[in-house]
Amino acid sequence: MTEDTKARPSRGGRAGRSGTKAKAPAKTKAPAAAPDAVLVEAVGEAPGLTLAQAEAAAAGEEFTFEQLGLSEPVLQATRDAGYRSPTPIQREAIPLALKGRDLMGLAQTGTGKTASFSIPIIERLTGGPSRTRALILTPTRELCQQVEESFKKYGKHAGLSVISVYGGVGYEPQTVALRGGVDVVVATPGRLIDHIEKQNVSFDELEVLVLDEADRMLDMGFMPQIQKVIAALHPYRQTLLFSATMPPEVEALARKILRKPVVVQVGRRSQAATTVKHYVYPVPKQKKTELLAQLLSAEAMDSVLVFTRTKHGADKVVTRLHASNIAAEALHADKSQSQREAALKHFKEGKVRVLVATDIAQRGLDISGISHVINYDVPQQAEDYVHRIGRTGRAAKNGDAYTFMCADEIAMVRTIERVIGQEIPRISVAGYDFGT
Ligand SMILES: Nc1ncnc2c1ncn2[C@@H]1O[C@H](COP(=O)(O)OP(=O)(O)OP(=O)(O)O)[C@@H](O)[C@H]1O
Ligand SMILES: [Mg+2]
Repeated sequence: MTEDTKARPSRGGRAGRSGTKAKAPAKTKAPAAAPDAVLVEAVGEAPGLTLAQAEAAAAGEEFTFEQLGLSEPVLQATRDAGYRSPTPIQREAIPLALKGRDLMGLAQTGTGKTASFSIPIIERLTGGPSRTRALILTPTRELCQQVEESFKKYGKHAGLSVISVYGGVGYEPQTVALRGGVDVVVATPGRLIDHIEKQNVSFDELEVLVLDEADRMLDMGFMPQIQKVIAALHPYRQTLLFSATMPPEVEALARKILRKPVVVQVGRRSQAATTVKHYVYPVPKQKKTELLAQLLSAEAMDSVLVFTRTKHGADKVVTRLHASNIAAEALHADKSQSQREAALKHFKEGKVRVLVATDIAQRGLDISGISHVINYDVPQQAEDYVHRIGRTGRAAKNGDAYTFMCADEIAMVRTIERVIGQEIPRISVAGYDFGT
């Protein structure tokens, strides 16, 4: 069993050769402006939560973490992190989560959803018995490690213990930590089920379950594992779901594991990050690698995350970039855990400028300084597009995202445009655009 996303079948892109040069953007159109709405939709009972209340909060410019009624250790942690005020999702979700409500938090990529669930959990657990009282499930090992770090960051003055549990590493240290008792467990479902089956962990005292990247966690591939984990939990718990996207069919599933949930939605559903400028490059399949190499040499690109559909595709792109003297590393599920960690570390530290990854890197990863995301292949799910381009333009910074579109990907790009409610401007590069 693997916790990581499975690669989809390759459509077998092959690189060709051409000596033409890139030109300035030709067919660009300004993207539609996105509304900055905060919607709090009360489901079932919750008469106190009104849209007016939400709007008032959204308009409040001077809103502070202090106004959320947080304890000093948590406030100190937000100050240490350099945060001046809560983001819209934090303003809305934190008070509701503190009240013990189940909630579904939907907000653009890079807008602080992690703190929206970590902070209320830290508040709830501080000073309580040292048992496993909160469980956070994430779809990938990398996100699992990152969420553990976030808990440590926001909870550093609160004295809680947190552990991450994921595959590809030895069981022993995780077993020792789980058996010893730990307040917060951040886990990928596959490895967690192994520990549950070995009775290494008890969820008798569990109070809060979080599904980070909820729609991903509840889609077809993960559902059996999630059901197994939920079967091991206390039915009277608080459940929090967060994601930047929530397709309607997945929301129906989500509501089954929540109790009288409140939906906190910032902006439009499945909205791409407004901090990211994105463009589509029409390019024949066999010229994609050459266009990539050309863009990487011609443009000032500090730190570039390239997404391919398959693991093999990622390796092939890396090999081709090496042939063009461009340093790149691959990150995908066929790499060993130490290789995955090394690739991510080198990329984060700026030792390698280009990271070529499969969809294991598309959700949740918060790497500051990614200047560009390039979809070498058009993602097959429209939601994936939102998450992929959201690896840049985080925490109010700006970023650029380019999507290479060959002839058989035109329909997919149109679907993406429909789902995100936005037309993506085309950039025509002479010698690369179809028929040029
Ligand atoms: N209140 C805040 N003020 C400033 N920066 C913040 C604040 N809250 C979070 N951040 C920063 O914003 C960045 C993005 O946060 P986070 O990873 O939680 O986003 P997210 O909404 O979960 O995105 P994704 O949908 O991609 O998972 C992080 O670097 C985090 O440190
Ligand atoms: Mg996140």
